[in-house]
Amino acid sequence: MTTNHSAQLIDQYGRHFPYLRLSLTDVCNFSCDYCLPNGYQCTNDRSFLSLNEVKHLATAFAELGTSKIRLTGGEPTLRKDFIECIKLVKSIKKIKQIAVTTNGYKLKKNINSWVDAGLTHLNISVDTLDPKLFYSLTGHNRLKEILNGIDHSLTLSLQKIKLNAVLLKDINSHQFDQYIDLIRNRPISIRFIELMQTGDNLDYFNKYHVSAQILKNYLFQNGWTEKLKDKSSGPAVEYVHADYQGSFGVIAPYSKDFCDTCNRLRVSSTGDFHLCLFGDKGYSIRHLLQSEGQRVELKNKLCELLTHKKKTHFLHDNNTGITPNLSSIGG
Ligand code: 5AD
Ligand code: SF4
Repeated sequence: MTTNHSAQLIDQYGRHFPYLRLSLTDVCNFSCDYCLPNGYQCTNDRSFLSLNEVKHLATAFAELGTSKIRLTGGEPTLRKDFIECIKLVKSIKKIKQIAVTTNGYKLKKNINSWVDAGLTHLNISVDTLDPKLFYSLTGHNRLKEILNGIDHSLTLSLQKIKLNAVLLKDINSHQFDQYIDLIRNRPISIRFIELMQTGDNLDYFNKYHVSAQILKNYLFQNGWTEKLKDKSSGPAVEYVHADYQGSFGVIAPYSKDFCDTCNRLRVSSTGDFHLCLFGDKGYSIRHLLQSEGQRVELKNKLCELLTHKKKTHFLHDNNTGITPNLSSIGG
């Protein structure tokens, strides 16, 4: 089988996909109320992608124009070979940005070795700045250590540090001042993500979902301005303020035209290709990750599958696709 050497990941709506979110494991040691309220349940024996499979996958994506790979989970840093994963992705020349999304567990202890291995971008989930609430939300009394780890990370050569917070009614929707204080003198981007309904969390969603408009109103009232963005920058809207080193990002999946700027594709920890977080299926590509000789076939398959990507998700119709929770395919 031959392939067009200049083939790129572009869908039928003209969207480009320079960004792959690759889940390394669906295991997580936190039990966030909106995601894994009862903690990780080991259902059957799962075997996650091996280093070799990750190599074949990442190389094929890179050849199709991917320049950024985010390692996600579950909690990706729980993988014993996590540092090897970073090094491996780093060794692929066309991949310029290597990011991780982590719950920050043992961040301070490990971040130096991740950066030494080639990590360029760091996202840490911090859904509340109140230690007690943090404990009740995640099951871990570690807010202080995580914030120390973030401060330590700021001294390293990372290109960008982001803090993710899922916007939750009456949990953090009255804590914007605290987040603002945190970024007055820290060049951190705080990303508020509107709570998304998944297969498992309907009751929670109904109780805690609040529109991101509440944050946008707050930012406007406090002199923050929306940054113009280019089409390739993904679905977050950024806000800046002259008196602050940090910035705010708002991810509002229920907002109009959210998916027009989609620039990402996903692969689960067991090798399923997902065209959308809320799609109705994943396509197994693991059998094409076994040897270098399958590269052309793999790339052709990815391009062919991309033709099935829909223009938008169907969350507005309460259709969450097959995603039971975000740890299962890597938020
Ligand atoms: N809605 C919004 N964000 C979520 N995340 C996990 N589940 C949800 C949900 N239902 C977030 C995590 C993390 C990122 C990977 O996705 O908190 O910041
Ligand atoms: Fe892309 Fe799906 Fe996310 Fe929309 S919901 S931005 S299409 S992955």
